[in-house]
Amino acid sequence: MVLEREPELATARVWLRRWRADDSEPFARINSDPDVMRHFPALLTRAESDALIGRFNAHFDDYGYGIWALEIPGVTSLAGFVGFKHVDFDAPFAPAVEIGWRMRRDLWGQGYATEAADAVLAHGFDALGFDEIISFTTQDNMRSRAVMERIGMMRDEAHDFDHPKLPLGHRQRPHVLYRARRSA
Ligand SMILES: CC(C)(COP(=O)(O)OP(=O)(O)OC[C@H]1O[C@@H](n2cnc3c(N)ncnc32)[C@H](O)[C@@H]1OP(=O)(O)O)[C@@H](O)C(=O)NCCC(=O)NCCS
Repeated sequence: MVLEREPELATARVWLRRWRADDSEPFARINSDPDVMRHFPALLTRAESDALIGRFNAHFDDYGYGIWALEIPGVTSLAGFVGFKHVDFDAPFAPAVEIGWRMRRDLWGQGYATEAADAVLAHGFDALGFDEIISFTTQDNMRSRAVMERIGMMRDEAHDFDHPKLPLGHRQRPHVLYRARRSA
């Protein structure tokens, strides 16, 4: 039996685990924070936030990997998320596996995202067998780009792109692309 509180991946300070029913309320609060959502087109309602958890769960069913809930034991049961997503929208680098993250505003600046992302990236190469992992964000999302750089991802400027899911002319459309490859 899988214990409900068992992490799938753990570091010195953080746990990555599957989503639980009691994540719904704190996750909705994160997704309705304008600071957290500054680089996304809109804040999420509670229903949209719950639907996102539903898509994370479905992604695990479809691909065997996905976006984990990020827990910081002793601090909070839900700090945000870190994990993988299959990218299949129209872009020269797709299909691909993307690593991504989102964290509660008051927990920024303590290295939690980098610590989690570093472990998740290694898990992607070592346990899940990915040859390459990409990440992307809006050009001016410097905090997210800093996480990419701290975990050793390299900017691939030649493949910066306009996000096809955002309308033409949208200020968040220009995205930067970063890549990491499994070391030989
Ligand atoms: C992207 C995001 C997760 C990064 O959060 P963050 O707090 O900047 O990143 P980390 O948790 O790795 O913390 C790094 C900071 O902690 C400091 N730090 C303290 N202890 C540290 C440690 N042990 N290890 C690493 N950094 C540490 C670093 O110096 C850095 O400081 P800075 O804020 O002065 O630059 C966060 O900004 C976020 O959730 N943004 C909104 C969602 C989003 O845009 N996601 C990406 C979409 S693609």
